[in-house]
Order: sequence, then structure tokens, then C-alpha cells
Amino acid sequence: MCGIVGYVGHRQAAEILVEGLRRLEYRGYDSSGVAVLSPEGELKIVKKAGRLDLLAESLKASPLAGTIGIGHTRWATHGPATDENAHPHVGGSDLLAVVHNGVIDNFRPLRERLEAEGRCFLSATDTEVIAHLIASHLEQQILARAYDVKNGEPREVLVAAVRGALAELHGTLGLAVLFRGHPDVIIAARRGSPLVIGVGDGEHFLASDPSPLVGRTEQIVYLADHELAVITAQSLRVIHRDQGHVSPRVDKLEIDHDDVELCGYPHYMLKEIHEQPEAIENALRGRLDVDAATARFGGLNLTPPQLKRINRVIMTGCGTSWHAGLAGEYMIEELARLPVEVEYASELRYRNPPLGSNSLLFAITQSGETADTLAAMRETQRKGHSALAICNVVGSSIAKEAHGGIYLHAGPEIGVASTKAFTSQCTVLAMLALFFGRMHHLSYEAGTRIIGELKELPDKVRQTLSCHEAVRRIAAKYCQCTNFLYLGRQYNFPAALEGALKLKEISYIHAEGYPAAEMKHGPIALVDEHTPSVFLVPQSYVFDKVLANMEEIKARGGPIIAVVDSEDSRAAELADDVIHVPPVAEFLQPIVNVVPLQLLAYHIAVLRGCDVDKPRNLAKSVTVE
Ligand code: M6R
Repeated sequence: MCGIVGYVGHRQAAEILVEGLRRLEYRGYDSSGVAVLSPEGELKIVKKAGRLDLLAESLKASPLAGTIGIGHTRWATHGPATDENAHPHVGGSDLLAVVHNGVIDNFRPLRERLEAEGRCFLSATDTEVIAHLIASHLEQQILARAYDVKNGEPREVLVAAVRGALAELHGTLGLAVLFRGHPDVIIAARRGSPLVIGVGDGEHFLASDPSPLVGRTEQIVYLADHELAVITAQSLRVIHRDQGHVSPRVDKLEIDHDDVELCGYPHYMLKEIHEQPEAIENALRGRLDVDAATARFGGLNLTPPQLKRINRVIMTGCGTSWHAGLAGEYMIEELARLPVEVEYASELRYRNPPLGSNSLLFAITQSGETADTLAAMRETQRKGHSALAICNVVGSSIAKEAHGGIYLHAGPEIGVASTKAFTSQCTVLAMLALFFGRMHHLSYEAGTRIIGELKELPDKVRQTLSCHEAVRRIAAKYCQCTNFLYLGRQYNFPAALEGALKLKEISYIHAEGYPAAEMKHGPIALVDEHTPSVFLVPQSYVFDKVLANMEEIKARGGPIIAVVDSEDSRAAELADDVIHVPPVAEFLQPIVNVVPLQLLAYHIAVLRGCDVDKPRNLAKSVTVE
């Protein structure tokens, strides 16, 4: 959701900004813009509603010269996606330009006050308030200190103006400010919306996440909340709201070029589907303890006695991560006999469930920036409970604020539709089930068997990917349908939900995931010859029950696509179309069986001409409530 880039150095900024914005396209946006300071110190701004290509074309036709600039991709919150609402926004008669991620909660009263001061607003955004507010503080500073605007105010005045504005703003923000007449400085600030700074040789890069830095520098600084950065070509100064000056910690950028490029695939989603065997290997690496027949995790930050005392687990997350939590509930309850509840983060943050002193929260998130998940975690921590993260993005807000956690190590996930994050999350949750199970009743023998099954998992997913062609043919047969049902039982219910979400997100087809038997209590009314039902029907102790559910659909003329793992011909005979997957232990079935569903959604979306990696209205990381 929204993306910020910035550059100050010795090269032409506009090109670097647009390339950076391309790397942030995956986050979701509907307009974009850049501001560059001309060699004369004037602000030059170009912004366009629609795809980034429109901005790039406009800059090609009328290039902006200058070696310092900021850029933005906007996902509309306040006001529609128009040129006027696109960022950057200016304040104080082109005194400064601002790009912003997040939401300003008190923008209405601030706007009224600033309008009463005679400031003229050109957009419907909350961001424009920031620009005028900083301008207002800057003008006050200049007056109070009697500096000469024409000759340029000292940098400290700019810093004071931004800090003054920040103190008045409520809500979340990551922002970058460029000042007329100051061709050497960008001021950036973070409160709830991530920002990173790339340290180059005589240049600095600013971005909402590390991907625009790949290929530019390997040195990265993650700004923390309430930090403000004063960035010039040669220097980086960081000031914390309460602690004053702090030394920025420079980390090594852990992602490389192939992680953020298509590498021959037509879409990131397809690339990421095919990366799943390696992603699962990365999630498992170093975490299976064969001698002790258990899993081990380096960063839980809880002692064995504390972990042993846990008697209730809460999983929270949104979307796909919530589905992974549901799979985790089945796994942990069965293998560890620990009660688990799965809560939508958007509900949990405002609920007040009674939690005992030995409850443990897992916040499950790919991005680590989802606003609801972060808020639900903070609320739980506020009540004194331990909260751990299962997270992909290193250094993200949730990863930082959790008491401990487990990284997925899946590599950047760029397609908006989550794929490898889901299977990696489920893999981590399967290891957690083993870990807690071995702390309680699970025998050494059972632990050893589970480790063997986990070790085979990457290859099973590799084998599953060979269903690709069969799935493509099935997609061609059904791509014109407008309703789909996804049905599975037990471990396959979360996979059914995830399959339906994938189809909805990228093909805009209505799809519902249901426990197969629950379908009789309502959704069966949807069934007709144009409504395919995708059944997950691998071998399990409910196999015969699922066959009965298939019969119920068949009797009503509904086409059936069955995902099967055995030679048992009964499921295939009932189905109109069959997808074969290799057999795995039941608790690992959601990981294997979701793969054909990801491919089905992908191919249907491609056949319908949808923009697979950037589906309409969606953002990769949902940083607003
Ligand atoms: O980054 P997170 O895992 O916290 O994101 C949660 C959801 O926004 C995300 O899973 C969303 O549902 C995806 N678009 C699903 O493909």
C-alpha cells in the first residue's frame, strides 16, 4: 500500500526514482508522482493517475533534471485516484513537497485551521495537510529566527519545522520532504509506516521497503518509529523523538537481484508458486532436531519452563495469514493437544477475550506491516501477554515489536496474491506443532516420524508442481464460470478457503470456501451446471465422508474438479476433472493441496486477461485499518 522512494547524490534522480517505484508497484497503487529539485533549486513535480508507465512516459517526454528527489505510488484512501490527489503535495506556495504513507487521523481539524490561515488546498488528501502544516511551522521558524528565505534557511530550521508538524499529527506516517532552495537534503520520518535508507558511495536512497535498493547498495538502515532522518549525499543523521541523536545501525541487505526480478516468468505469482519447494526448505533449514525428535527455534525468547506452562494459543492474522493460522490450529491441537483459537486481527484488536496468564499469541504475517495484525498484537502485549511473530519480512514492524518469533525466510513475495508465504507459514506451524507436541505427550517415535515427513515435504511440493499442465487445461474449461465453490474437510478446509481467496483476488470471480459438509447448510443453493465445485479429497479418515459430499453436488448437476492423491478411483469417477497430487501425512495436506488451487486461480486469471500481480483494488501490504 503506497510506496515512497527518495534519492540524493550525484546521479540524475528522476530515473532512479521511477525505477524504485517500479520495484514498489507490487504493494498496490492507483497513481504515482515524483518531485525533483532543479539545479536552480526549484521544485519540479509530475504526477499521474493510473499506471506508473504514464508517469514514466510523461517524464520521458519532458525530463526533469536534478540530483535530488522524492517519489510515491499512492493507494487511494482520502479522495479518488486523480492527478490532483497523487503525491507529492506542496505546501507554502511551493516551499516544500511531501510524500506520505499512512493515514492522518486528525486531518480534518488541521485542514480547517490551515484553511482559516488562508492556505489553499488543491486535493482531497490527508497528506496535503502535512505539507501545509510543515510549511506553516517553517514560516514561523523563519519569522522567529529572522532568517532570509532567499538565501536559504539553515538545515536546523527545516528539521525544527518537520518536528513541529509531527508533534501535531495523529495517525500513521512514513514521509519524505524536499525543500525549495535546499538541493542537498531530504528529511524523512517514520511513525508506524516503514522506511529504509540505502547507504551508497556519495549518495543515499530512501524507500518504503528494501526492494528498490537491490542492485544499488548492500548497506541498509531500517528507521525505527519516531525517528527522523536528515539525509544528504554525504551524510545521514537520525534523530529520535525522545532520545535525540542516535547512531544509525547499518545492516547488510539480505535480498538479491533474482529475488526481485521475474527471471523469465511472465508473472511474480507464477514465479513464487514455483519457488515453494525452496521456500519450504528455507523454512525447515536448521530447525529439525533429529536427535531430540523435535523442532528448534532460535528466537522465541521464552525459556523452556515458560513454554511448558503455555496452556492456550491464540493465532491472529488477516487474509491468507489467517488461513495459515487455521491450518496451525488443526496441527497444534492434534499434535500438541494445546487449545488454539484463531482470530481475525481486525476483530481481535477491539475484542476483549478473557486470556489466562499462560496464553501465548502468534501474530502471523507475511509483510509484518499489516495494520490490524500489528494493532491486535500491541493490544495483547498491553495486557501483559507474550506475543510472538511468524513473519517473512526481516526488520518489519511486527517482527520488531514482537517479544520473539520465527522468520519464514521465504524471500520477498512480490505478487499481491500470497502463495509461498502461505506454504511457508504452514510449514513453520507444523514445526511448532511438533515442538509443542514433544514438550507434552508426543512420543520420540512420533516425533521422528513427523521429522521424516517434514523432510520429504519440499520434494512432495516439487512433484505437485507437475500438475501444472493438467491445471491449465482445467482452467481453460471453466474460466468463463462466474461462481466457484471450494470444499474440503479437516486439514483441507483451510486450503479450500485459501483456494477460494486466490481465485477471488486475481480473477474477480465469486468463490466461496467451505467445510465440505457445511455446504448443505446454504451454499448448495448456488449449485447448478455453471457452478464448479473444487473438492480437496486426498486420502484421510474423512475420505468416504467427502465422497458423500461429492455425490450431493453431483446429484444437483454441479461440475466437480477433484484434487486427489490416491489410486482410489471413486473420487475420480465422481469428478468431471481430476488433479493428482502426491500423498503426504494429513497434517501436511494443506501445504501440498493448495498448490494446484494457486495454479488454477493463476491460469483462470491469465485466461480472463486480468492483471495477476496487481489485481484491482488490492494492496500487498495493508497498512491502514
Ligand atoms: O502481510 P500479511 O500476511 O499480514 O497480509 C495479510 C493479508 O493482507 C494478505 O494475506 C492478503 O489476504 C493477500 N492478498 C492474500 O493473497
